[in-house]
Amino acid sequence: MKRILILPGDGIGAEVCSGAERVLEALIEEHGLEVEVEHGLIGGASIEACGAPLSEAALRAAHRADAVLLGAVGGPQWDDLPLDQRPEKGLLQLRSGLDLFANLRPATVFPELIGASSLRPEFIEGLNLLIVRELAGGIYFGEPRGLQTDADGGRTAFNTCRYSEAEIERIARFAFAAARRRSGRLCSIDKANVLEVTRLWREVFTRIGAEEFPDIELSHLYVDNAAMQLVSNPKQFDVIAADNLFGDILSDQAAELTGSLGMLPSASLNDGSAALYEPCHGSAPDIAGTDSANPLAMILSLGLLLRYSLDRADLADRIDRAVAATLAEGIRTRDIAVAGETPVGCTEMAEHVRERCR
Ligand code: IPM
Ligand code: MG
Repeated sequence: MKRILILPGDGIGAEVCSGAERVLEALIEEHGLEVEVEHGLIGGASIEACGAPLSEAALRAAHRADAVLLGAVGGPQWDDLPLDQRPEKGLLQLRSGLDLFANLRPATVFPELIGASSLRPEFIEGLNLLIVRELAGGIYFGEPRGLQTDADGGRTAFNTCRYSEAEIERIARFAFAAARRRSGRLCSIDKANVLEVTRLWREVFTRIGAEEFPDIELSHLYVDNAAMQLVSNPKQFDVIAADNLFGDILSDQAAELTGSLGMLPSASLNDGSAALYEPCHGSAPDIAGTDSANPLAMILSLGLLLRYSLDRADLADRIDRAVAATLAEGIRTRDIAVAGETPVGCTEMAEHVRERCR
């Protein structure tokens, strides 16, 4: 029996998670999916309940699970806490505790939502790209880091972006393998004209490509140029590989091209010992509790979980088709509705998908 750990987290995390859970229930009841579901706390919810953004018990449960499904973390009520006690720290501890170094963020455009993008339809029609973001290293975790008071009484803050060759090699292999399963093209992102760490990044990607993936067409872009090309000519890209920070930034940008951040799922993987699935969006405290969030990124993340961790591509396809069918019928949450469309709430959207999953 496979085990799924659900960590709703904060803000709209709880709402979108319960939407995905309703879909999961339908698959269990009607399609012979055999899973055991457990719930836990992360982020602000965990701070309130046990004083830390990720308890040891929750991390142990995550280790035991075959896959973790996570909503979102964070909210203004925790903004004044020191960085290492904030809700986001719980998510970072989970990612690094499970050594989830490869974060896959697919950005695809549903034809029905072309009007919701800020770009003209011809720029995004058929867009289908995959961002492979390094998730367990780089400036998010590099030491030394801190805030110090200088001799003159002023303060200096510092972080360190650090990657070992081995860390770059493993994410490079992951990205090349992903490119091999798709179009055979990989674009690696760096700032090799300025930063030593990304010079090494470029060097290692080039070597791994030449030695192990000569069939893959590798290109390199400086991150500023990539940000520009993502809006000027997004369809040139297939697989994009980026470090933790650049991947964080470019994936929000890519997501928004598709119409809404509320549509994008993600999978965080490693060599196969653990997996975490979460939407790319955050906890959206401004709309939390109003039942107006878009649960589709969360539901599509459940689809990725079924595909990658439970080997149930049939059910993942069923979810993808149900989402497409729901959109084709003009059902929209507020974030993807255009003028003249009356949005439905988060619960209702999830029910529509659940019905179409049967
Ligand atoms: C993401 C988020 C997180 C990140 C935050 C919540 C720590 O922005 O998953 O993209 O920066 O990785
Ligand atoms: Mg982000």
